[in-house]
Amino acid sequence: MLLYIHIPFCDSKCHYCSFVSYTKNHDLKRAYFEALTLQLEHELQRAESLKTVFIGGGTPSCAEWGYYEKIFDLISPYLLPEAEITAEANPTGATKEWLLGMRSLGVNRISLGVQSFNDAKLKFLGRSHTSKEALSAVYRAQEAGFERISCDIIYQCSIDNKRLIDEDLDILLSLPIEHVSAYELTIEEQTAFYGKEVKNSEEPFYLLIGEKLQDKFSQYEVSNYGRICMHNLGYWMHEPYIGVGCGAVGFYDSRRFYSQRDLRAYIKDPLKTRIETLSRSDLLIEKLFLGLRSVVGVERELLPLSMRERADDLVGEKLTLKNGRYYAKNLFLADELALYILGETL
Ligand SMILES: C[S@@+](CC[C@H](N)C(=O)[O-])C[C@H]1O[C@@H](n2cnc3c(N)ncnc32)[C@H](O)[C@@H]1O
Ligand code: SF4
Repeated sequence: MLLYIHIPFCDSKCHYCSFVSYTKNHDLKRAYFEALTLQLEHELQRAESLKTVFIGGGTPSCAEWGYYEKIFDLISPYLLPEAEITAEANPTGATKEWLLGMRSLGVNRISLGVQSFNDAKLKFLGRSHTSKEALSAVYRAQEAGFERISCDIIYQCSIDNKRLIDEDLDILLSLPIEHVSAYELTIEEQTAFYGKEVKNSEEPFYLLIGEKLQDKFSQYEVSNYGRICMHNLGYWMHEPYIGVGCGAVGFYDSRRFYSQRDLRAYIKDPLKTRIETLSRSDLLIEKLFLGLRSVVGVERELLPLSMRERADDLVGEKLTLKNGRYYAKNLFLADELALYILGETL
């Protein structure tokens, strides 16, 4: 089983972000962690063991490391010896004390929200840190003993140009990190960017990013490069996972479990979830998209005959068929290929 823990607090709201996070109500942190603990205790009844844990957000580094002690007391009997335990952090929250504290609890992978090393771009994105702070956070994580460090960046913003992206990539390639998540900017409702012309539609940067990162990190999913994050790989392989926390999602027995997104409502009743039952075709469509977007691929036998025929048409030029699984040759084209296989136009 995989475990996702959501920490819905941030110091400020970035212009692009629609994740469940609160910049106010930090006085509710203690009550929140108590509610979280309750839900975790309840959900752990389903788990025999935990292969991976991902503490995401929001910003987990908005909560001092001591808040996580109870969580680790609860999960430690379930953790497999080689369990991957990731915590997300933003550069200013990733203090020496926080990093050492989280490491002492068992966190062995840090994912830093860097977004860019260009100060003008950071401002444009509404980030609360500078490039220098992002760089020193990476080195602090290394000094705290983390061997597994990942950085998130965002591209395809109107402020981007080839030089800016190139410089960001050069810096990433020079850092003591083993993983990069490079996300194309998506415009989400109810964000400051919504309805604004903030995307660069002139030149796509994904090829430059893919090619340059390839020197040090190999691409294993459309947005992910380097040493594979086992937690994300588990999602793409449709492994069951428990999701705890305000706005968290869990998945098992072909059902999705959505915890309440409102902070106060969650604290009041952390066990309340909305359940969505996925049909066989929902599951198939997900497996097709997630599989083609990553090194997981898609099992040929899983596809109905008409889809298999369309997939076979693509073998050679756009897909590889190996050991009974289809793989996209170019992960950036995965969505188009999946749509074609589904029966849409390519
Ligand atoms: C939960 S945040 C990371 C941790 C921390 N909150 C931070 O921002 O430093 C997860 C990542 O999703 C990415 N992200 C969020 N919204 C996005 C959007 N609209 N478009 C592209 N990437 C986005 C960002 O790269 C961000 O670092
Ligand atoms: S990107 Fe991270 S820091 Fe910014 S609002 Fe979203 S969760 Fe918070």
